[in-house]
Amino acid sequence: MPERRVDLRSDTVTLPTQEMKEAMMDATLGDDGYGEDATVNRLQELAAEKLGMEAGLYVPSGTMGNACALFVHTHSGDDVFFEERAHLFAGARGEFAILNGVRPHPMQAEFGVVQPEGLEEAINSADVSQPSLLCIENSHNGSGGSAWTPTEVESVSKSAKTHGLRIHMDGARIFNAVVAHGVDVKDYTRHIDSVMFCVSKGLSAPVGSLLCGTRPFIDEADAVRKRIGGGMRQAGVIAAAGIVALEQMVDRLAEDHEIARLLCAGLEAIEGVKIQRPPTPTNFAMVNVEELGWDSESLVEKWKTCGILANPRPPAGARLVAHRHITHEDAAYVVNATRQLVERG
Ligand SMILES: Cc1ncc(COP(=O)(O)O)c(C=O)c1O
Repeated sequence: MPERRVDLRSDTVTLPTQEMKEAMMDATLGDDGYGEDATVNRLQELAAEKLGMEAGLYVPSGTMGNACALFVHTHSGDDVFFEERAHLFAGARGEFAILNGVRPHPMQAEFGVVQPEGLEEAINSADVSQPSLLCIENSHNGSGGSAWTPTEVESVSKSAKTHGLRIHMDGARIFNAVVAHGVDVKDYTRHIDSVMFCVSKGLSAPVGSLLCGTRPFIDEADAVRKRIGGGMRQAGVIAAAGIVALEQMVDRLAEDHEIARLLCAGLEAIEGVKIQRPPTPTNFAMVNVEELGWDSESLVEKWKTCGILANPRPPAGARLVAHRHITHEDAAYVVNATRQLVERG
């Protein structure tokens, strides 16, 4: 058995803090189907207030939050624009099956950051007849956790608005972007129509995401959530942890970014190991071992023998995600273990 277990598969593996567990025990509850759960209501208000939007909706997952947003923003036959690796498009978690009727237009964009020129080109292509929605992802998972600048959001948003598009942000990890750039989350949200963010990832709450937007948008999204089975009852039990996540867990994301930086620096120093770092990185380390002649599966399997868990990124890469349970010692262990594996060949 390996001497240590270092789980770098995702920040979704984070466990609730003691404060969260206490808040969950003490939560004031009611039937959220009737809008009567005071703790859910408080979380929704807090999210809306923090993000500078009119209203918020607590949903069981990021996938459901995005699906509700797409449902409300679009109609059958609409053209929807995404970066090609966006979770909403490439994640293949059923949103498009649910949404059948919307025409997706994947676009290429370096580090997932869609530029106005790229959007214009996509909109002006021959097969677009009902341009309706632009979806952007911040931080961008598929490119290695790249954080958009507020200016980048503003400029693509201006271009989208010129064409009458609405803009939805998949901000599953928006607070990682906020911390990486040292900005206020409102610096992003003032340029968009809706945003989904997860409290269940680096913020360590056990369950849930928030969708925020205008009051009428959220009222419609609430109806969609119920229609697709996302209505919850005494959900204050889990929402209580979401409140703690928003109030206490945002600033500490900087520690995860530092761990990711240490992993990148240490692994990059090993011959044959390459790291892909976006201009503004967050809590991911994207490792590539093509030069060693290894593929993703063999890298992940070799790490597993040392108790290191990671997700493969084929053909020759893997993603390491830093989070609250990963220490500086863990990062040093990963680097040393990888060096030994490479030396052994
Ligand atoms: C960028 C992004 N959006 C959405 C989701 C979906 O979130 P959930 O797993 O809560 O459905 C994820 C999950 O990893 C994600 O990384």
